[in-house]
Amino acid sequence: MAPTQGTCCFLLPVLLFFLSGKVIQTVDLSVGINYGQIANDLPSPNRVASLLRSLNISRVKLYDADQNVLSAFLNTDVEFIIGIGNENVSAMRDPAKAIGWLEQHVLPYLPYTKITCITVGNEVFKGNDTTLMANLLPAMQSVYQSLVSLGLDKKVNVTSAHSLDMLGNSYPPSAGSFRQDLAVYIQPILNFHSMTKSPFLINAYPYFAYQGNPSTVSLDYVLFEPNSGVTDPITNLNYDNMLYAQIDAVYSAVKAWGHPDIEVRISETGWPSRGDSDEVGATPDNAAKYNGNLLQRIAMKQGTPLKPTVPVDIHVFALFNEDLKPGPTSERNYGLFYPDGTPVYNIGLQGYLPPMMISSSSMVSYPNCLVYYGYCDTFLIICFLF
Ligand SMILES: *[C@@H]1O[C@H](CO)[C@@H](O)[C@H](O)[C@H]1NC(C)=O
Ligand SMILES: *[C@@H]1O[C@H](CO)[C@@H](O)[C@H](O)[C@H]1NC(C)=O
Ligand SMILES: *[C@@H]1O[C@H](CO)[C@@H](O)[C@H](O)[C@H]1NC(C)=O
Ligand SMILES: *[C@@H]1O[C@H](CO)[C@@H](O)[C@H](O)[C@H]1NC(C)=O
Repeated sequence: MAPTQGTCCFLLPVLLFFLSGKVIQTVDLSVGINYGQIANDLPSPNRVASLLRSLNISRVKLYDADQNVLSAFLNTDVEFIIGIGNENVSAMRDPAKAIGWLEQHVLPYLPYTKITCITVGNEVFKGNDTTLMANLLPAMQSVYQSLVSLGLDKKVNVTSAHSLDMLGNSYPPSAGSFRQDLAVYIQPILNFHSMTKSPFLINAYPYFAYQGNPSTVSLDYVLFEPNSGVTDPITNLNYDNMLYAQIDAVYSAVKAWGHPDIEVRISETGWPSRGDSDEVGATPDNAAKYNGNLLQRIAMKQGTPLKPTVPVDIHVFALFNEDLKPGPTSERNYGLFYPDGTPVYNIGLQGYLPPMMISSSSMVSYPNCLVYYGYCDTFLIICFLF
């Protein structure tokens, strides 16, 4: 069925050359992306799988465990973080419900869809729901114990994604600390991460710091543009961007409560390309600088000043603009792409969203055809007449 390697290697470059004539850049995109779906105009998961493949993005975070998405990525190399929503956190305290959830949302896909992490709840400490806060750790423990009983605890991490406002102090980074009123919840959660060797995830948005204080916060500093940076007076480490300062503030807070061993990862960061008139800084130009510069740093495998040898681990928010998100205009404009697959601004991410008729799901009706996706806007369909 498949052509010989010789055919493939001969045909593909020739056709790419004729169809696009563009220079083909290869980039190592170890960045992850948040695939939010609060929208009514998104392409099917099968087409999104092709888009991500054309972009060479192989790490995806979901806010749920959408079976249409997880099945569309069967037998791809894409690694998934999937989520249990806040509305389901309390139910997960019951081990039978946790096992049931795993049996329904994880077991059917492993190992063909790589699910490497489950987030229990999202930004639980942002609101004032103390019942939810108190339920978080028992729910995480119950999901973890269920993974242990299924023999999957080494394959799938259990964690939660936190908002940065759980910090009481974030400046200077070396003095980062959690809010004291959250100690009763967070201290045992840190013990859990330490024991299970799972990462601590934060959603970090320098955009909010700038938007709240545009006259005092340097735009270059938040956008990773050249600037003289900020020096931490205690460590003498120089920070040339706010995101790294935020990450190190979390490392300091985690360490201050006794856990220098826990890895901090960024489950969300991004910049909106549009906003209401009072949302200063939400422009395509700023979004392009923030996300474009961030991708370059990720490609360089850069660590933060405090952890120079640990490359920052980041899932950008978000893949698509999501038209049904409530709140200010910026909320619907964090996407790198419009739902039709065109980039919202140019940062060199020219992906390819196949038209509906040749999405991989419809390919089953053309069993004698092979589709090759090029790196630019190209694709090639070869059909065999036998
Ligand atoms: C895709 O990423 C991998 C490593 O992550 C790299 O080896 C490869 O060259 C990249 N390909 C393209 C087309 O960018
Ligand atoms: C999760 O929450 C949804 C919405 O409240 C509910 O319909 C569903 O049954 C819950 N699932 C579990 C496993 O508790
Ligand atoms: C909790 O927060 C909501 C909105 O964020 C607010 O309306 C409500 O009054 C708060 N409740 C308490 C008990 O603080
Ligand atoms: C789980 O998290 C730890 C710590 O961050 C990491 O080293 C490990 O690779 C993760 N496991 C998987 C399966 O991703």
